[in-house]
Amino acid sequence: MNSRPAASDCYSGPAIALHWLIAVLIIGGFYLGWIMTDIPGFTPTKLRYFSWHKWIGLTVFALAVLRVLWRATHRAPTLDSATPLWQKAAAHAVHGVLYLLILAIPFSCYFYSSAAGIQVVYLGIVPLPTFIGLGRSRPRCARYTSR
Ligand code: HEM
Repeated sequence: MNSRPAASDCYSGPAIALHWLIAVLIIGGFYLGWIMTDIPGFTPTKLRYFSWHKWIGLTVFALAVLRVLWRATHRAPTLDSATPLWQKAAAHAVHGVLYLLILAIPFSCYFYSSAAGIQVVYLGIVPLPTFIGLGRSRPRCARYTSR
């Protein structure tokens, strides 16, 4: 039995708003991630960009969770009945992969950041847990450990 409301012809306002908000944040966060790593040294600007990048990524994650919850409780608009079956299957598969990526990328980046031993303080206000300890910066082979 499916308790979700019947599908309509188009997405609702909240679904469209979430879609575009997530899209804009991913593009902005990606751009920031790209340019921040090219800034030489440890300048205040670089550190600020790193923080903004992390906050944007975490906001994407939170909004993506909301989006998945919305999708689990609402039906997506039905595709045109003339759409070939393989195209319907391809559309579902691509949507599934996109959901997976918008959750997995910020999630894995968060762990990557934790492994660098840097705690994320969301919006400079909320300290977040690190989950994993500091990663090793050097290989453990005898050549290095004996020094
Ligand atoms: C939608 C989410 C995200 C996207 C699309 C994204 C994308 C990127 C990109 C394109 C770079 C530049 C990589 C390079 O040029 O080497 C980057 C770097 C980085 N990101 Fe993200 N990111 C996301 C979320 C996050 C989150 C949530 C965190 C941590 C809380 C994070 C932490 C980092 C760090 C620390 C770097 C620098 C890596 C380095 O020093 O080489 N990112 N990210």
